[in-house]
Amino acid sequence: MWIGYHRSHEASVVAIDDAGRPLHAIAEERLSRVKMQGGWPRLAAAWLEERVATNGAPLVHGGLPLAKRLPRELELAFWNATHGRLQDVHPKRFRKLADVAFGRARGAAPAVFAGRARTHVDHHTCHAASAYYASGFDEAEVVTVDGVGDAYSSRFFRGRAGRLEPRAAFFHTAFPLGHNYEFVTALLGFHPHRHAGKVTGLAGHGRVEPRLVAKLDAWTDEIWSRQRGRPYFFMLHSQHGSTAGDPHFAAAVRELREARQTRFGDWSDAEIAAAIQHVLEREVARLIAANVPRIEGQPIALAGGVFANVKLNKLVKEMGFGKIFVQPAMGDCGLALGAPLQALAEKNGGLRPTPLEHVYLGPDYDDAALERALRAAGLPVRRFDPVEPEIARLLADGRVVARFNGRMEFGPRALGNRSILYHCSDPGVNDWLNKRLQRTEFMPFAPATLEDEAESSFLGLAGAEHAAEFMTIIFDCSEEFRNTCPAAVHVDGTARPQIVRKATNPSFHRVLEEYRTLTGVGTLVNTSFNMHEEPIVCSPEDAVRAFLLGHLDYLAIGSYVVENPRLEPVVGTPPRRLS
Ligand SMILES: [Fe+2]
Repeated sequence: MWIGYHRSHEASVVAIDDAGRPLHAIAEERLSRVKMQGGWPRLAAAWLEERVATNGAPLVHGGLPLAKRLPRELELAFWNATHGRLQDVHPKRFRKLADVAFGRARGAAPAVFAGRARTHVDHHTCHAASAYYASGFDEAEVVTVDGVGDAYSSRFFRGRAGRLEPRAAFFHTAFPLGHNYEFVTALLGFHPHRHAGKVTGLAGHGRVEPRLVAKLDAWTDEIWSRQRGRPYFFMLHSQHGSTAGDPHFAAAVRELREARQTRFGDWSDAEIAAAIQHVLEREVARLIAANVPRIEGQPIALAGGVFANVKLNKLVKEMGFGKIFVQPAMGDCGLALGAPLQALAEKNGGLRPTPLEHVYLGPDYDDAALERALRAAGLPVRRFDPVEPEIARLLADGRVVARFNGRMEFGPRALGNRSILYHCSDPGVNDWLNKRLQRTEFMPFAPATLEDEAESSFLGLAGAEHAAEFMTIIFDCSEEFRNTCPAAVHVDGTARPQIVRKATNPSFHRVLEEYRTLTGVGTLVNTSFNMHEEPIVCSPEDAVRAFLLGHLDYLAIGSYVVENPRLEPVVGTPPRRLS
């Protein structure tokens, strides 16, 4: 066994076996209940230690050791100078760099890590390893794009014979794709680190206006070449994930929001979102075209926070790649997976890529724990054996069911084990359920679709089947699907499915099958089980709390089904039944 961890924002811990298969994985935020929690993954490390004996397992850190960052940033400053992109670094930032360079980094390692030797794998190599070694592709182009990691925003590799061969690397100031997207996210009034997905959804509602695209390009160029004023990058990048109360962050966001009126007052939010989405797609396509010698028919594996952009991933596939895989934990929580994979590959002179089977790698709870949580909240304990037909019956009655079952998903998406489920024929659900959950979304809920209906539902699925198991890419929908499941189809006719396989999640698959027996439809909408701005629920107690706060109709927790004590009449239209 090998253990990986990562301690910037989205801190996490992952254990893999000696063949490179992930065994256990969790992000700190799920245990601390602070979204994108950074710093040492103390709770995650303690959880792993409790779950499995880790004695002697090598420990690998995703990211360069702090002291090595200083020369890297000096290198970056030099690069900036020679490219006419001088930017001033805030004195506070320099002090921090000096501190870490001289070993005065804050906080001690978690007790369970104490006394262990640690190795390091740089940020983008971790992303690349998490994509390549989980893709199952023997040979593949491997591309990483994010905001910034160890001074780079993008790296290219060729995966061959179980090794990653570096091709090209780009400093984040040269290709600030993720950051520019974050700027516009803030400009539109959202949180730059957390809400990029809202902009992607909003982009589907707007037309690409060339004049606006030119204006946006000029504005972001100006930000990056500005020699005076505050460098946005350092303000938007928060080392420990918490930006609350940070005056530099607040000032940067204020300034970006002012630009909404002063610079882009003539344009709608949807047009601005469409423009930045266009810019991102244009730049990533350009970068890939320039750095991948052969595209046609080749497999490609992607990771890095920018590939959370499901619309971009469709475009990459459509460049002509034969197969595509996107690491489901594409953001920085996935560094803890990539780090030990790379270290293992280096030690053994290569590692055979194995297709990632599933991401159900987090905590699970026994019946006693589930019952305890229900009783503590004064809820009745009613058990069903099997429970899946009962869940399907409630869904077919037009009820919202919060499903908590088995091991929690690793990565940003809920894939049936910490999910809120509903039928897919009422497009209005995207309004009323989001309101109940206190969310603003511009992309509809995602469909969870039985594997035997995938082909007839989503166009251009060939080569992207694996990626589609993890809700990491969108597809154009078939006419039949658009008619049957309008709740899951975006205004542009696309959906971002989770193809549900019996082999990897038998219980969720059975819920869908039982539902199909009742209605003739093999799709449900699935949204993450959490309350407004909170991480996805982890424990039964989290689930009970979110269930009651969200005024959801039913909680199906393990084999127990609980009706909301304040159950309201059915809100949406009833599910469609195919004959
Ligand atoms: Fe990253």
